[in-house]
Amino acid sequence: MTTQKSGRRIAEAARDVLRTNDTGTLVKAAPNLYPHQWSWDAAFVAIGIATFDIPRALAELEHLRRGQWNSGMIPHIVFSDAPGYFPDAARWRTAAASPPGVATSGICQPAVHAIALERIRHRAAGGPHEAAVLDYLRRTFDSWLAWHRWLHDIRGADGSGLLTIHHGWESGMDNSPRFDAAYARVQPGELEPFVRTDTAVVADVGQRPTDGEYARYLWLVQQLADIGYRDEEADAVCDFAVKDVFASAVFAVACDDLATIADALGREPDARTLRTWAIDSALAVDATIDPATGLACDVDLRAGAPISVPCISGFAPLLSTRDGAVRASQETLLAGTGWLGAPGLAFRVPCSTSPASSAFRARQYWRGPTWPVLTWLLAFQARRHGSADLFDSLRRASLSQLADLKFGEYYEPFTGEPLGSARQSWTAAVALEWLATEP
Ligand code: SER
Repeated sequence: MTTQKSGRRIAEAARDVLRTNDTGTLVKAAPNLYPHQWSWDAAFVAIGIATFDIPRALAELEHLRRGQWNSGMIPHIVFSDAPGYFPDAARWRTAAASPPGVATSGICQPAVHAIALERIRHRAAGGPHEAAVLDYLRRTFDSWLAWHRWLHDIRGADGSGLLTIHHGWESGMDNSPRFDAAYARVQPGELEPFVRTDTAVVADVGQRPTDGEYARYLWLVQQLADIGYRDEEADAVCDFAVKDVFASAVFAVACDDLATIADALGREPDARTLRTWAIDSALAVDATIDPATGLACDVDLRAGAPISVPCISGFAPLLSTRDGAVRASQETLLAGTGWLGAPGLAFRVPCSTSPASSAFRARQYWRGPTWPVLTWLLAFQARRHGSADLFDSLRRASLSQLADLKFGEYYEPFTGEPLGSARQSWTAAVALEWLATEP
C-alpha cells in the first residue's frame, strides 16, 4: 500500500532521476548504459515529465521528431554527443538517410508516441498549457501521421494488419525468447569487428544478452546498412523478418490516439484513415491468438510459422482488442499461475517471459525480468477498456516495486532486485504517471 508520504518520496526521487538524466536537449534513457535518446523510451519519459512540466515533455518528443527520416520512419536512437555506447552512430552508417546534422540509428521501435501525445493533451486539458499543446499538435501532426503511414505502408505492406520487424531491437524486447528460433537462422557472415560497451556498465553480464546474440544483432545492422536502409530491399535482404504482434497492437492503440488528436484538430479524413488502420491491426492481432494457449503469436516470416513462446507479447490483444470475450479470456490468463499468479513473485506484476516456461530466466533482460513500463502500458489500456480492478492491482503492485527508489531498468521477479541500469528514465516516468493518476 502506497501511503501519501511514500508516494511523495517516490515522486521526488523519480523527478530527480529525470532531471539528472536531462542533458538540456534530451533525457538520456539511462545515465551511463544508454546516454542517448531512445524512441519508445522518449515517449514514456514524456508521459512522466508531463506530470510536472508539460513544455519539457513536448520538447522531449520534439527532439525525437527532429530525427525523423524523409520516409517518415522515426529511428530508434537519436544520438547525443556522449561517448561510450555501442553501436554508435558511425557503426550505423546512416548519415545519408538521417536528417542533416542529426545522428540516428537506422531501425525503429514500437510506435507509442501518439499514446504519449494524447496523454499529454489529456494532462494539459483545462490548464495553462492547453493551447500550447494544441498548437504543438497542429504544427507537428503531419510528422506523426507520416510515421504511422510509413509503418502501415512499409512494415504493413502485405495488408495483413501486422507489422514486420527486421531486428529484435525493433520490438524493444531485444533478446526475448520469442525471437530465439528466428535468430538461430541468422548466421553472421563477415562481420566488422566490434567491442561491446554494455558489459562494461552492467557488471553482471548475465543480465545482458550474450556475445552470440550481439554478433547477430550487429550482423543485421550490417545487412541493413549495406543496402543503405532502402525500405524496398530490406524484406529480401534481411535474415530476420518477424510479424511483431506486440508492435502491431501498440500501432493499433496509437492510431486510435492519433485519430482522437486528428478530430481535435479538425482533420476528419485523417481521423477516419487512422481508425481504419487501428481496426485492421487490432483484428489482425486478435486473429493470431493460439486457441491452445490463449496467447497472441508473432509470425516468423522466414520460417513461415507462428511463434508460440509464452512471452508478455502474447498479451498484445489486451492493449488493442475491441472484443470483450478476447479481453475477458486474456485477463483470466494473466491472473493465472503462468503469470500474475505464479508462486513466489515478489510483486504481482507480469514477467517478460512466463515463469512456467522453460525459456524463463529470472535475471536476463527480456527473458524473464519484469519491466515497469510494460506493467503500466497493460494497466493503462485495461483501464481505458473498463478493467478498473486490473488497473488498480497493477498500479499498487508496481508502486510497491518502485518504492525501493532505485528505478531499475528491469526487476528480478522473485527477489525484487533491480537489474540492468539503475535510475532508468522510463521507470521513473512510470512512477510519476502512476502517482498522478487516481486509482
Ligand atoms: N536495447 C538495445 C541495447 O541494449 C538498443 O536498442 O543497447
